[in-house]
Amino acid sequence: MQKLEVFGANKLKGEIIISGSKNASLPILAATLLSDKKVYLNNLPKVKDIETMINLLQSLGSKTKFNKNKLIINNFKQNKKFASYSLVKTMRAGILVLGPLLAKFGSAKVSLPGGCAIGTRPVDIHLKALSKLGVKYKIIQGYVHAQAPKGLIGSKIRFPKISVGATENLIIAACFAKGTTILNNCAIEPEIKDLVNFLIKMGCDLKWTAKRSIKIIGVNKVNDTIYSVMFDRIEAGTYLVAAAVTEGNLKIKNVLPNIIKTEINTLKKIGARIKIKKNEIHIIGNKKIKSINIKTAPYPGFPTDLQAQIMVLLCKANKKSLIKEDIFENRFMHVAELNRMGAQISTNGNKALVEGKINFAAAELMATDLRASVSLILAALTAKGKSVINRIYHLDRGYENIEKKLKKVGAKIRRIN
Ligand code: EPZ
Repeated sequence: MQKLEVFGANKLKGEIIISGSKNASLPILAATLLSDKKVYLNNLPKVKDIETMINLLQSLGSKTKFNKNKLIINNFKQNKKFASYSLVKTMRAGILVLGPLLAKFGSAKVSLPGGCAIGTRPVDIHLKALSKLGVKYKIIQGYVHAQAPKGLIGSKIRFPKISVGATENLIIAACFAKGTTILNNCAIEPEIKDLVNFLIKMGCDLKWTAKRSIKIIGVNKVNDTIYSVMFDRIEAGTYLVAAAVTEGNLKIKNVLPNIIKTEINTLKKIGARIKIKKNEIHIIGNKKIKSINIKTAPYPGFPTDLQAQIMVLLCKANKKSLIKEDIFENRFMHVAELNRMGAQISTNGNKALVEGKINFAAAELMATDLRASVSLILAALTAKGKSVINRIYHLDRGYENIEKKLKKVGAKIRRIN
């Protein structure tokens, strides 16, 4: 098992280039199953989840060539409809192949993703909405057996709750449904907009008709497609917090600042000095960190994927802060580890009360999920001495070259086997 050794405390200084978005790449990769032509994807991050999704596509018959951050997919002979548990269990986004497989073949057998550290991760909203497109499904021994005997039929669907994955699955499925589909109460994360732009580039017919409504007119063929995936806004947010928590001075490049306005405004309220350029954010951390209450919410609210990171910063604020996690039922796994570093965080259900004025002490730590792992690195960067973070395979699922990027801006960090 690999570990990360971090020697703190030091201020980060320099430039960080942001990679492509994991959470835009995953639905776009799933959507390539609609194509029987060639797809060229650029700016894919080289992270574990992307490799897992590519393996899943290969198991379904896609021919792929992935080097550096470019992927060529050739689906001339893609004809399998079975997505195995062995691949889906490690990467819940595997459920996103259900929509495209049903759209293309009218049947699919896809493993249920199963839960993870942050929650049970059900897919009931995906399945109920797909049945409104004419899909019949049964759950047998952990697999979804789904059929659309007459093909998918366009329909008007309102999601009972905002769900990123369900919105993505239905958008992709509706692209090949007969007739028109209207989806209401959609999630509108930037990664979903990126997926829609990719589908339009491929030749599908989609149009946003209101803030959370989209109209999709089914087509039955697509063309060769070249597409570049958007930047990873959660990676960008993570490094902005890294600058703020180490009183550093970072230039974050390859970003679209207006997409992360909420995060930028939150960091300004906490006291960081931020200057915006076209594709760059220059942030200077402030010795004085002001407390602020945070509530996670669907986009454009504060992202749940940055909750662990901002919690580390608020441990150093001038007084206590309250964090409410309104998206996932168990996303405070990082709290116990931060408290072992000297934090004083108490949780009650989905609320965490974060005492301020904390100086983290270096410690041996255990990562539990992707975003919790990176919050431990942020705390370790400010703690005098050597911290060791175990189970960093969680980290490798979603952060490309994290040690390299941090080392380049002055962090003393190394991976040990
Ligand atoms: C996506 O997960 C992201 N993953 C998550 O990022 C992110 O935290 C989440 O959206 C919220 O923004 C990818 O994009 C690959 P949801 P997803 O469906 O689609 C409940 C990361 O760190 N729900 O919006 O699974 C669900 O349990 C990951 O990169 C149902 O009840 O999120 C959760 O409480 C972690 N039934 C809430 O809705 C369903 O059928 C939001 O889930 C689906 C979801």
